[in-house]
This record gives sequence, C-alpha cells and structure tokens, in this order.
Amino acid sequence: MWKKIASLIIGFSLIILSSYANGGEEFLSPSEYWERPIPLQIPNSNSELPLSFHPEDCGECHKEQYKGWKGSLHSKAVGPGLLSQLEPHNDPEIAVSCYYCHAPMMEQSEVGSREHIKNPYFDNKLKLSGISCSVCHVRKGKVYGPPARAEVRSEEKKWHSGFIVKDFFQSAEFCAACHQLDEGYELNGKVLTNTYKEWKNSFYGKSNITCQNCHMPDRQHFWKGIHDPEMVRDGISIETYPNERGAKLVITNSGVGHFFPTYVTPLIVVKGFMLDNKGKLIPSSMKESFIGRKVSLDLTQEFFDTRIAPQKSFEFDYNQAFLNGNRLIFKVWVYPDKFYNEFFENMLKGDNIGIKNNELEEAWKNSSESSYLLWKKEINTE
Ligand code: HEC
Ligand code: HEC
Ligand code: HEC
Ligand code: HEC
Ligand code: HEC
Repeated sequence: MWKKIASLIIGFSLIILSSYANGGEEFLSPSEYWERPIPLQIPNSNSELPLSFHPEDCGECHKEQYKGWKGSLHSKAVGPGLLSQLEPHNDPEIAVSCYYCHAPMMEQSEVGSREHIKNPYFDNKLKLSGISCSVCHVRKGKVYGPPARAEVRSEEKKWHSGFIVKDFFQSAEFCAACHQLDEGYELNGKVLTNTYKEWKNSFYGKSNITCQNCHMPDRQHFWKGIHDPEMVRDGISIETYPNERGAKLVITNSGVGHFFPTYVTPLIVVKGFMLDNKGKLIPSSMKESFIGRKVSLDLTQEFFDTRIAPQKSFEFDYNQAFLNGNRLIFKVWVYPDKFYNEFFENMLKGDNIGIKNNELEEAWKNSSESSYLLWKKEINTE
C-alpha cells in the first residue's frame, strides 16, 4: 500500500517536472528541436495515446495541409527506393543513418538507436508515412507550429490543447536539418548536400528570402522542386542569340535560391541539332551539353560540376554552319532522378538476386519515368 502511494507521489512529481520542462521553452533553436532520432512522443506509456501521430488523423481537420503533403515527396520519403537499400535487422547502423532524414521519429525505426535491440514502440504505418506531419510538428506529444495567422486565432477553440508557437518554423535553418550535410561528406572539396549554405551565401540568404517563401508560398505544403516543370520554369530564364554560324543559348538561374540544381541527383541536358528540309534529323549536327554535378555511383569521383549558382548563367554555343533549308532546334530536358536511376539500374544488373528485386524494379521504373521536356525552340535561320 505505502509502496503504491509512494510510487504515485513519485509519478505525480515526475509529471509536474516534465510538464514544467515541456512548458514550451525547451527548444531554443531548430537544432535542439531536430535532435535525432526524435525521442518517443509518450515514453513508457501503455495507455491510449491522447493524440494520434498518423498524418491521416491530422488530415481530418487540416485538409489543405494533408492534400499538399500527400502529393509531395516528403510523403514518399520511405518508398521502394529507400526500402530496397535497407536491411534494418542485419545492418541497423546503416538503416538508422538513413532514417535520420527519411523517417526520423523513434517510433519509425524497427531498431533502437544505439543498442541494436528491437524497438517495442515501432509503428510500421508511421514509418511508411515518411516525413509526415508529426516529424515536423510534434515533440513529446505536443503540437508545435508557426505563429498563428490572425484569422485562426480563437481562444475558444483549443484543439490538441492548443499549440506551442516557434518562430523558427519560418526560418531556413528549420529545413537545413535535412537539406544540409556537415563537413566530412565532401567530394572534390565540396559537401555532397549543401543547399542551406548555397542559399545563405546568395542574394536570397542575404535578403532572408527563405526556403518557405519559395517552397511553401502562403504556407502551402506542396514543396515543389526539380520534379515540377512549372516550378523549374519559374526559377530560370532562357535566351537565344542567333549568329551567322548558329546560335547561342543562355540559361540564367534567375529565381532559384541555391544552385540549379542543388543536388547531385538531377541532370539537365541541353541539345542543339538540325533538321533537313524534309524534317529529318541530321545526326552529325547533334550537340549536347549538361548542367549538373555528375558523380560516380560509389560517390568517390566527381566527373563534372556545371551547376548554375544563383544569378549566374550557363552558355551553350551552337556554331555549326547552316545549310540552306536546314532548321536549328534547341531542346532542354530535365532528368530529376538521374543519379538514382543509374544506381538502381546498376544494382539490377548485379547479382543481388533476392527478396528486394521487386522494390528495386519499382524504384528503377519510377526514376525512369520522371524526365520531361522543359523547353524547346526553333531558331529562325532566315
Ligand atoms: C542529410 C539527409 C539525408 C540522409 C542522411 C539520407 N538521405 Fe536519402 N535523400 C535525401 C534528400 C534530400 C533526397 C532528395 C534528393 C533530390 O531530390 O534530389 C534523398 C533521396 C534519396 C533517394 C531517391 C528518392 C527515393 O525515395 O527513391 C534514395 C533512394 C535515398 N535518398 C536513399 C538513402 C539511403 C539508402 C540513405 C542512407 C544510407 C539516405 N538516403 C540518407 C536526404 C537524405
Ligand atoms: C517538412 C516539414 C513539415 C511537414 C512534413 C508538415 N509541415 Fe506543416 N508546416 C511546416 C512549416 C515550416 C510551416 C510554417 C510555414 C511558414 O510559416 O511559412 C507549417 C505550417 C503548418 C500549419 C499552419 C498553416 C497556416 O496556414 O497557418 C499547419 C496547420 C500545419 N503546418 C499542419 C501540418 C499537417 C497537418 C501536416 C501533415 C499533413 C504538416 N503540417 C506537415 C512544416 C511541415
Ligand atoms: C480535431 C481537429 C484537429 C486535429 C485532429 C488536429 N488539429 Fe491541429 N489544429 C486544429 C485547430 C482548430 C487549430 C487552430 C486552433 C488552436 O488550437 O489555436 C490547430 C492548430 C494546429 C497547428 C498550428 C497552426 C498555426 O497557425 O501555427 C499545427 C501546426 C497543427 N494544428 C498541427 C496538427 C498536427 C500535426 C496534427 C496531427 C498530429 C493535428 N494538428 C491534429 C485542429 C486539429
Ligand atoms: C526530416 C528531414 C527533412 C526536413 C526537415 C525537410 N526535408 Fe525536404 N526532403 C527530405 C527528403 C528525405 C526528401 C526526398 C524524399 C524522397 O524523394 O524520397 C525531401 C524533398 C524535398 C523537396 C523535393 C525536391 C524535389 O526533388 O522535387 C523539396 C522542395 C524540399 N524537400 C524542401 C524542403 C523545405 C523547404 C523544408 C523546410 C520547410 C524541408 N524540405 C524540410 C527531408 C526533409
Ligand atoms: C528564390 C526561391 C527559392 C529559395 C529561396 C529556395 N529554393 Fe529550393 N528550389 C527553387 C526552385 C525554382 C527549384 C527548382 C529548380 C531546381 O531544382 O534547382 C528548387 C529546387 C529545390 C530542391 C530540389 C532538388 C534539386 O536538386 O534542385 C530542393 C531539395 C530545394 N529546392 C530545397 C530548398 C531549401 C532547403 C531551401 C532553403 C535553404 C531552398 N530550396 C530555397 C527555388 C527556391
């Protein structure tokens, strides 16, 4: 009896202590907020969770955010591409290192962080939801968000017992948690994922035009990027300057807040070629050039880096003499998943015949189908 009361008292004071610690002041910076793995939401609780952490449940009320997120790549961060690479039970360290950005909640990992034991709180459905609402908005069972817009502020409506306001939801540092790697991941002297620093050093960083301003306009949850033709067209400008022997194509990074493209994964292919007077391609007239940072599949070599820094340009000089009646065509193609497409293809060719082949094939197929024609122009050669 006394034992029970004593433990009740201890339990009670622990609750007071922890609610004191949870007063909303504990996360002073985005880096504290982004401790990973994100600690268990409700540790040591067998009772029913006061709040569900699944995106579908948040979506019951936050329909707009759910719709946007569902269509975004954040909702697909745990897909066949990632799953085909992982053997969490055989190689927990690798899995945990990938979950750092692709599925960072403790509940999303089948293995414990350091001790390689089974995680009793593992929730496979939550894992498959990738970077969902709770990853960005929930810590220790409490909801965090940016300052409310005036219209939604309502003292009567206290859902999920309100929410804790953090200004850093509106800062680029919030996104840097996953879109920037530290020193130690260099290739040819340059970090492999450097989006935040590219931004910081640009006109946009200096004017504090944030990631959210471009990727979450009006707080929308779409996160469009290189996979979206309209987004890319809005971020660059393309000019042509005809001359006697052909024409010059100039692509300017006029509205991308970092290098175009920022990652090693996409490749942009610029093509110039001529058609004869019957409209047939003249094979010898074909000229190609690439925009991107091409690295070897094992990440030990960089072949070229022709990415366009913010407000800088890329020039493509097509200077083959025209023949009478020939037409000069310029095309710009985007391959958003070029690196991974080659990576998956290479793995399929290898003799990794095993259970992962279905996932690999799906990943390869998805990454093969994402390319698109960004821009096309016929140059007037009269
Ligand atoms: C620092 C954060 C970070 C870490 C750590 C990380 N990734 Fe990624 N990963 C990303 C981002 C960001 C993209 C999107 C790249 C793009 O859009 O060009 C991505 C894309 C991918 C893709 C292609 C898209 C897809 O879902 O098929 C695969 C596959 C992938 N990562 C696998 C892994 C694996 C395996 C690991 C662990 C060895 C890992 N990643 C670790 C951030 C990370
Ligand atoms: C990758 C991180 C991330 C994910 C995932 C995410 N959000 Fe957000 N959310 C943000 C950021 C950042 C803001 C603030 C943007 C700003 O102020 O410009 C925000 C803002 C909001 C707001 C305030 C909107 C407004 O109009 O005032 C709500 C509500 C919200 N998110 C709910 C959700 C829900 C529900 C989901 C899942 C369906 C979700 N979020 C997924 C990062 C995220
Ligand atoms: C039953 C409906 C309901 C559910 C379910 C719900 N919310 Fe909310 N949420 C609200 C309402 C209403 C508000 C705004 C009123 C308030 O609390 O001040 C809000 C506010 C928010 C905000 C702050 C918006 C801002 O202006 O900064 C965020 C972020 C948020 N919710 C995220 C979530 C997440 C993540 C989930 C799932 C884990 C979730 N909500 C589940 C109703 C809901
Ligand atoms: C928890 C880690 C994490 C956080 C935080 C995060 N991202 Fe991401 N983001 C990723 C991963 C991983 C992917 C790639 C998912 C995939 O394709 O498998 C991605 C994809 C994207 C893409 C799509 C790129 C494309 O290839 O089309 C954009 C844009 C993006 N993130 C912007 C943001 C912005 C802006 C923020 C801050 C509000 C943010 N992200 C916060 C991990 C994160
Ligand atoms: C001035 C607008 C602008 C700002 C600011 C901006 N972006 Fe982008 N971002 C774009 C445009 C346009 C694209 C599409 C072209 C491209 O892929 O480079 C893009 C593409 C991306 C991609 C797709 C992958 C790739 O290889 O290009 C990711 C991821 C991304 N942005 C993340 C971020 C993050 C994180 C920040 C903040 C540190 C940020 N962006 C700031 C406009 C912006």
